[in-house]
Amino acid sequence: MILGLTVFALFVLAALWLVLQPLRAGAPADPDAPERERLTAEQGRLYGELANLTDEARRPDLERRAALTLRSLDALPPAPPSRERSGRTRTLALTGLTVAALVTVAGAVTLVPRWQLASLGAGEAQDVRDVLALPGLRKRAEASGHKAAYLAWGRAAFDSARYAQAVLAYGNALRLDPRQPEALRRLGILLLTRPDQQGQNAQDPTPEEAQQAFRLIQAAAQLAPQEPESQLLLGFALARFGQDADALTALERYRTLDPKGRDADELITAIRARQNEDDPGLKVYAANCASCHGPNGQGGLGPNLRVSTLSREALRSVTVNGKGAMPAYPNLKPEELNALLDVLERWQREGQ
Ligand code: HEC
Repeated sequence: MILGLTVFALFVLAALWLVLQPLRAGAPADPDAPERERLTAEQGRLYGELANLTDEARRPDLERRAALTLRSLDALPPAPPSRERSGRTRTLALTGLTVAALVTVAGAVTLVPRWQLASLGAGEAQDVRDVLALPGLRKRAEASGHKAAYLAWGRAAFDSARYAQAVLAYGNALRLDPRQPEALRRLGILLLTRPDQQGQNAQDPTPEEAQQAFRLIQAAAQLAPQEPESQLLLGFALARFGQDADALTALERYRTLDPKGRDADELITAIRARQNEDDPGLKVYAANCASCHGPNGQGGLGPNLRVSTLSREALRSVTVNGKGAMPAYPNLKPEELNALLDVLERWQREGQ
């Protein structure tokens, strides 16, 4: 009992600290917030219209407007840490607190009445339920030996950050059937990143383990290329192996498949910054062209530039004067324009 109370007290202190942390730091103001909000809303509206388009004749115009919006969004300075993040910290703290309270007060809880969860938000309640459901899900999986039961256990464990259990559950599901994208990619990312398990510091995987983990993630992306999480985790894995260009392609695909998904934003920004430092032409490209022609020139709303057959002079002319829906860029400095044309010519040589 005393141990229980001590643990509970520690949970409370940790939770309070987490809750108060963002308040103490004080949220920095974001001068671009209204513009960002307006553009995001506009982008959401255009994506929505595109998704439900019945009149194909309107597609080019909508796509052009979506691209311009995306470009303006990319041009805004990065937002300071948002309230959403401190909201998430609070959610975590609240979840920890609730779990501690429920477990300590009720002793061996097996069933949580719905009313106890009623005051939590949907996501928080789900987290709490996931954690409490784990023993039952585990028992059911081990008793039935069915892959669906192992998947359900793995999903609940993964979503509530019980990673050691998630590895066990997904590993068993894969022994029963190796063609399961969710289990493949999540097991892969867990093996690759080894998130802090039960407070022990993460240990880096050996090169062989990392390669194996990478293969799991690649297999999942081949099995289910249309699932956003396939592309997201593939992007993370590629970036970890230094394959920045391919990582960006996968992460951009993730954003196309899940326009509301924000999980790739930080990594995309980091990779772009890394690339720009190395290559002034890419810097100009990322700032002006990537929103339409894709991060690696492989096309998007604008055509694939890697298969373009234009000469350097023709490339220069289209860039400076524009063409059709392609805007003109008359104000690039000569050295910027030359570095940009170097990039475009390199891509033409590399091809697809
Ligand atoms: C708003 C979207 C958009 C942006 C931003 C944009 N483009 Fe384009 N680009 C297009 C479209 C659409 C076309 C096709 C135009 C046509 O053929 O009518 C195009 C065509 C081109 C072509 C011709 C390719 C060919 O083989 O015919 C080149 C080269 C090109 N763009 C380079 C660039 C560069 C360099 C930048 C940045 C400085 C850039 N674009 C920015 C939309 C865009």
